[in-house]
Amino acid sequence: MERARQITQDTYILPSSLVVPGLGIIPVNAFVVKAADPVLVDCGLHPDRTEFLSALEEIIDPSDLRWIYLTHPDADHTGSLHALVEAFPGVRVITTFVGMGMLSLRDPLPPDRVYLLNPGERLDLGDRSLVCLRPPTFDNPATTAVYDIRSHALFSSDAFGAVVQSPAEEAFSIPREDLRAGQLLWSSVDAPWLQSVDRSKFAATLNRIQDLDPDLVLSAHLPPARAMLPQLLETLFEAPDQPEFMGPNQAALSVMLREMTGSAPIEPKPIPTNGGVHP
Ligand SMILES: [Fe+2]
Ligand SMILES: [Fe+2]
Repeated sequence: MERARQITQDTYILPSSLVVPGLGIIPVNAFVVKAADPVLVDCGLHPDRTEFLSALEEIIDPSDLRWIYLTHPDADHTGSLHALVEAFPGVRVITTFVGMGMLSLRDPLPPDRVYLLNPGERLDLGDRSLVCLRPPTFDNPATTAVYDIRSHALFSSDAFGAVVQSPAEEAFSIPREDLRAGQLLWSSVDAPWLQSVDRSKFAATLNRIQDLDPDLVLSAHLPPARAMLPQLLETLFEAPDQPEFMGPNQAALSVMLREMTGSAPIEPKPIPTNGGVHP
């Protein structure tokens, strides 16, 4: 995990990443908004949780946090969730009914520590409102994004993510063609349903983001993108036309492991074509 950084007057990023052999680097970000009622947006990776708390403490006294905005309960967003809820009784977790249900399958949160917010609804933070909306792409039905009407930042969850080839602090420092390729790869992995959507309906969801016109797109899986919405949207319009992503099969994985470690896993014996049954 990297050190926390300030990205606007009142917004901070807690950046980390995952290296995926053969593909590249997937940024994994959480954010803090120092509103009158401070909010943590997402909770990072589980293996990062000790560092995550230290990074958070560099930004804010976590006991001052009023809200955790959980964009969805995937493992790359919930790493420090339960530790924070247990340690700081004043914080309440914003999610959806579906998100609450998914969390309850493993580690239920006490109902009085949860606050349900649906797309179209707003949350008052004292000095601003957050507007909840459905992002154009997502990999979990509980997902929401949130727009800060004061900073004009869109916290877009998995949407607008990209696989990158080298670490970057700002999206504008990624070469344009690399960013385009990384966005298309990410969206084909994260939202495989894109290939079967009605193109005009998907375009309408992107147009709604265009109308919102955030100055800053803060994806969980992209470095902060300032004044880059037209470029990001232009690429996403193409996403439904991308080929389906197919990961390496066992033979390809064995080659990768041999290259990385010098040894490959023991493979199962091939099944005889007659199923091993002698006539
Ligand atoms: Fe996700
Ligand atoms: Fe994610």
